[in-house]
Amino acid sequence: MASSPAVGTAAPTFGTVTAPSMVRAVVTDGGFGPVETVPTAELSLHPFAHVLHYGSACFEGLKAHRGTDGVVRLFRHERHVVRMRRTAELLLLPVPPVELLTHAIEQAVTDNLDVAPASPGALYLRPLLFGTDPNIGAAAAPSRDAVLLVLASPVGDYFSGGGRALRLYVETELPRTTPQFGEAKAGANYVMALGVTRRAAAEHGVDQVLFAPGGSVQETGAANFLLLDDDRVITRGLDATFLHGITRDSILTLARDLGYAVEERDISVDELRSWRGEAALAGTAAVLAGVGTLVLDGREHTVGDGGVGPNTTRLREALVAIQRAEAPDRHGWLTPVG
Ligand SMILES: Cc1ncc(COP(=O)(O)O)c(C=O)c1O
Repeated sequence: MASSPAVGTAAPTFGTVTAPSMVRAVVTDGGFGPVETVPTAELSLHPFAHVLHYGSACFEGLKAHRGTDGVVRLFRHERHVVRMRRTAELLLLPVPPVELLTHAIEQAVTDNLDVAPASPGALYLRPLLFGTDPNIGAAAAPSRDAVLLVLASPVGDYFSGGGRALRLYVETELPRTTPQFGEAKAGANYVMALGVTRRAAAEHGVDQVLFAPGGSVQETGAANFLLLDDDRVITRGLDATFLHGITRDSILTLARDLGYAVEERDISVDELRSWRGEAALAGTAAVLAGVGTLVLDGREHTVGDGGVGPNTTRLREALVAIQRAEAPDRHGWLTPVG
């Protein structure tokens, strides 16, 4: 029988371990009911539910970190609240009020403090919102009924192999999702990218696909993409085509603090071909993961020396030190819970 890891251990595989309880709010005709704690267990759902037919579902992903002092702290959860509200708006789902969603996330941590692992593990939080109107004729109508859940899961490292440099396949034709929806953290975006990602993994043994439709770099299926060297950090400027990562924003902020020039602009595939510095993926799950190889034009391009570069390591460590409460939280990113 599977059991949750005790405090101080990292979970075996990202996302497979359930915390004992979850938080729920039922939405009726657009109005959010009270936030309540319930056991993490099967749901009862009407087979006519909007989400099952028309994909009215969105989510968030964030972490609470146990510091070296033992205190558990949420990392920038107010930004995840803003992003989830934006996604709900794009999907025409009832938009959770700021206070309610903030409270729901905090309550999911408080309820599951006992299973929050020590660093490099964390308690991963997965807010989830889906439409439940029991109407299979509602393809052209938004769902007014919905359920909001906040799931919790103790996690270790997302990419197996931890500090190993990643291999990416550069897809220069297909987009990850429809361009006007890249900004949404909706399940539909992930399932659209799945076929391309599985094919690239099978054919080229890669960890992820870097989507660069028309030769303009966007992001991978689960993280934002950055170029780095000793002086600069370069990443795509914010637009509607990709997910506005909170880790991306944190890394850019720390990079400025450390004296790097930050360039938010388009990156072309041509620039990738001639880039001599480092590359990395930024995301809640990946943190800042080094990229060692790009499969591009049917050939392998080694990035930097093929390992995790020193600037990637430096910025990753700067972020992790704040999350562990080992470095001062100058930007007010942490909220103690419990
Ligand atoms: C498609 C995609 N892009 C980027 C990110 C990074 O976002 P964040 O740093 O907010 O986790 C994620 C999530 O981790 C993602 O799924």
